[in-house]
Amino acid sequence: MASNPSDQNLNDDRLPVVVLISGSGSNLQALIDTQEDIGIRIAAVISNKPSVLGLKRAMEARIPAEALNHKDYETREQFDQALMELINSYNPKLVVLAGFMRILTPEFTRFYEQRLLNIHPSLLPKYKGLHTHRRALEAGDAEHGVTVHFVTSELDGGPPVIQARIPVRSGDTEETLQKRVLVQEHIIYPVAVGWFASGRLCLKENKALLDNVPLPAQGFQHTVLSTPE
Ligand code: GRF
Repeated sequence: MASNPSDQNLNDDRLPVVVLISGSGSNLQALIDTQEDIGIRIAAVISNKPSVLGLKRAMEARIPAEALNHKDYETREQFDQALMELINSYNPKLVVLAGFMRILTPEFTRFYEQRLLNIHPSLLPKYKGLHTHRRALEAGDAEHGVTVHFVTSELDGGPPVIQARIPVRSGDTEETLQKRVLVQEHIIYPVAVGWFASGRLCLKENKALLDNVPLPAQGFQHTVLSTPE
C-alpha cells in the first residue's frame, strides 16, 4: 500500500516525522493540516490495521501510507521489530503515536527514547489505559481532558508535555465528552510536535523540558477558551 514519495522536496529542512495510527486518524489530520506551520514533514503514516480511514487521509495528502498488520506476526517482539525496520526506512527524527492502539515493547520504546510522543485522552496521571471518558464520568470528575506525553516503557506513564482540561457538564455522556476532548487534542498535539520540531522541547533525565526549563509534573496547561456544545 506504500505510495511513492516522489514529490518529496530534498531541500526541505522540516523535521521528518513518522506517524503511527490504528484508526480514524483525526489527530493525524490535525498534523497534516499544520505540518508546514509547525515545521514538520510527515514522511510516512503506518497503521497496524489495514483499511482504516487514517491511511486514506495520508494517501489523500500524498504521504506514504503503510499497513503493517500485527496479526501477521506471532509475537509482539516480532511485530515491533518489523515496525522499527519500517519506521527506520523513513529516517524520522520524531515518531508520533496518534491513536496507535498497541502496547509497545521496551525494545521499541528504548530505541526511540526522547523522540517518541503520544496523546492520551485523560488528565494523566489519571486514567492510564482504556475507557478514559467512561472512567472520568463514573468517578464524577468535575474536569476531564487530554495529555501529550513523551513515551517511556511505562504505559501512558512518560513525562507529560501539555494538557488541556475541560469541564464535565451534567448530562455528559462518553460520546459528548469524547467529542469535546477530541477538539482539544487537535489543538494541543500540533503545539507539542511544533515545540519539538523547533528544538524547544526535549526529554532529559526523564523530565520534559521546554526552553531548557522543566515543565510542571502535569505538563504545560493549555488554556481552553470555550468548548463547543
Ligand atoms: C484519540 O482520542 C487519542 O487521544 C487516543 O486515540 C484516539 C485517536 O483518535 N490515543 P484519532 O484516530 O486521532 O481520531
